[in-house]
Amino acid sequence: MFNIVIFGGPGSGKGTQSDKLISHYNLFHISTGDVLRDHIRRGTDLGNTANSYISKGKLIPDDLMVSILEQVLIDNAQAVADGVIFDGFPRTIPQAKALNEMLQKRGNKVNIVIGLEVPDEELTERLLKRGLESGRSDDNRETIAKRLEVYHSQTAPLKAFYQNQGIYAAIKGIGTIDSIFQSIQEAIDKVK
Ligand code: AP5
Ligand code: MG
Repeated sequence: MFNIVIFGGPGSGKGTQSDKLISHYNLFHISTGDVLRDHIRRGTDLGNTANSYISKGKLIPDDLMVSILEQVLIDNAQAVADGVIFDGFPRTIPQAKALNEMLQKRGNKVNIVIGLEVPDEELTERLLKRGLESGRSDDNRETIAKRLEVYHSQTAPLKAFYQNQGIYAAIKGIGTIDSIFQSIQEAIDKVK
């Protein structure tokens, strides 16, 4: 099992680069944002709860998020056997510790954290542009600003957490999608 965490601010390209990684490395993709948006679309109770956080740019509470992720791993036990791309999870130190425990239980670990580093101005520009057609309740100027604030205060500390474990690979997340993917591939192939 080879597990990748793809990490970065809102709009840093986690989803875009995950799509390329899936086909190249044959890994299972879990985007917690996509999982939550699917619940919102289906109008489930969880979807209603999630939307009250997402539309404000706030994080879903750790306990709830960890149990959702654990369930995705259980429901897809076969598909995750070769490895997973975790996109948008973990987002807090407690989530990162929970992920380590979940993987340890299965005799596995996070092998590499791909940190897509993109300046805030570029992130804002990308998300405003996407907001013109995405229909996402969080792609508006006010919520984008909140997402960035939450990213810097609650999620960015994970960089040091993973640097201490020696598994953080910093990737310059600006430029063409293909050139960024090439840097990611080089970082992965060094440890795979
Ligand atoms: P989530 O869905 O994870 O959103 P996000 O982190 O805000 O990031 P995005 O999905 O918007 O961006 P991305 O990095 O995937 O970039 P993308 O490839 O789309 O989370 C949403 C919300 O759900 C959270 O705010 C929270 O409320 C909740 N949530 C989710 N996970 C949670 C967790 N673990 N704990 C608690 N709450 C959680 O690209 C963005 C745009 O840029 C696209 O239009 C793309 O075409 C474009 N683009 C991509 N690459 C480039 C490039 N190189 N140059 C120019 N444009 C580019
Ligand atoms: Mg995404």
